[in-house]
Amino acid sequence: MHIDFSIVPLVERPDLVTTVARWGFGEWGHLAPGTTLDDRIARVRASMRVDGVPMIVVALDGDGTPVGTASLIDDDLKGDARNPWLASVYVPPRARRGGVGARLVRAVERLAAGFGYERIYLFTASVPALYARLGWQTLEERSYRGEHVTVMSRDLTSR
Ligand SMILES: CC(C)(COP(=O)(O)OP(=O)(O)OC[C@H]1O[C@@H](n2cnc3c(N)ncnc32)[C@H](O)[C@@H]1OP(=O)(O)O)[C@@H](O)C(=O)NCCC(=O)NCCS
Repeated sequence: MHIDFSIVPLVERPDLVTTVARWGFGEWGHLAPGTTLDDRIARVRASMRVDGVPMIVVALDGDGTPVGTASLIDDDLKGDARNPWLASVYVPPRARRGGVGARLVRAVERLAAGFGYERIYLFTASVPALYARLGWQTLEERSYRGEHVTVMSRDLTSR
């Protein structure tokens, strides 16, 4: 499948705040019990900026339909002092396996490098192989909130 798409800061498409929050809530809401969709909407709103962390980007197809999102945030892994983190990479099922996810990862790496960071982190319970293919290195595996996760990082000075 080939998808034509572009990636823009969420602040350019404020109408997509609820869509992005719903995607994240549906996929990861169970990891933060007690958190509501409204909490997530508030957090997404607070990431509508272009000048630093936290920041969210969205992928849009040729018609402007959203086909994915990714975030650059601090303090994703609670209790871990490392920052910043690539988080909430999500592509809706109909748009998967067309390269959108990989481009979102690259976009957030570029943003972090542009903000002056030399290293960026992520943790994933689902797709460590995807990030390994994109040049990320595994730092450790651990359990986090009942899931087995892989903590990975990417050196932004060697991109
Ligand atoms: C993971 C996800 C973002 C991938 O998005 P995508 O647009 O399908 O990814 P891409 O098409 O850019 O694929 C990038 C690479 O990862 C591989 N890949 C994609 N999905 C994969 C999966 N589920 N398992 C293993 N590898 C996968 C692809 O083969 C591709 O490698 P290739 O180009 O060498 O073939 C998407 O499946 C998703 O939103 N899943 C649910 C949420 C999630 O798990 N997010 C990641 C949280 S850390």
